[in-house]
Amino acid sequence: MKARTLQLAHAVPRHVAIIMDGNGRWAQQRGLIRQEGHRAGAKAVRRAVQASCKYGVATLTLYAFSSDNWKRPQPEVEALMLLFRHFLITEIEECLREGVRIRVIGRRDRLPRTLIPLIEKAEMETAGCTRLLLRLAVDYSSRDAIVQAAATARTREEFSAALGPDVDLLIRTAGEQRLSDYLLWECAYAELMFVEELWPEFDEASLGAAIEVYSRRERRFGGLAAKQSA
Ligand code: IPE
Ligand code: IPE
Ligand code: MG
Repeated sequence: MKARTLQLAHAVPRHVAIIMDGNGRWAQQRGLIRQEGHRAGAKAVRRAVQASCKYGVATLTLYAFSSDNWKRPQPEVEALMLLFRHFLITEIEECLREGVRIRVIGRRDRLPRTLIPLIEKAEMETAGCTRLLLRLAVDYSSRDAIVQAAATARTREEFSAALGPDVDLLIRTAGEQRLSDYLLWECAYAELMFVEELWPEFDEASLGAAIEVYSRRERRFGGLAAKQSA
């Protein structure tokens, strides 16, 4: 399947980050339990990865489980961990085929122990892939990541090296307009986009539309617009 040709004013964002929100509401609307929403959300992850490859995004960072999500009822947490496990087992082949490198960010010491070798295997086996870097944020807290980086980093460059690349486009689905402890440093100059669609509804066209809006925005980084500075 070929991606629709995007109408772009400027370049495609190199680094897209997504707060995948609204799985619970999606399920609720259908009279299903929240876990069913997360299952549908996992399918949307696959679509977003494929679409990112097609559109030429270099890095995609997905918020899969925040450090504050441990507060949720245990059956829901368990279902999310099972979905993550399932993803790590079933998606490696597809990632290798598509050239997707997997990296998991966040704490690992509180995850179910059986997940660790699966994470390491996925990262190792896809280490040579260069088309898309897929970063999955699991037990992730941006504040914790910054505190940790501050133990060794002293300059902006060292912080960036410890934390990861700056975000160009941040998308949050399901209408809420907040960052929920996600990529706080990396989003210093990110374009923020809040869409009403619930995460399980998000598809290739949704990402395409977001990229088109992004490409029409003017990023200044504190300077002047290109035409004013000439
Ligand atoms: C996002 O959907 C998925 C995770 C936080 C793991 P939610 O589960 O937060 O869905 P809502 O916000 O309750 O609709
Ligand atoms: C943020 O969503 C975390 C993920 C999408 C994984 P939440 O649903 O947990 O955030 P809040 O509680 O609405 O801020
Ligand atoms: Mg939510």
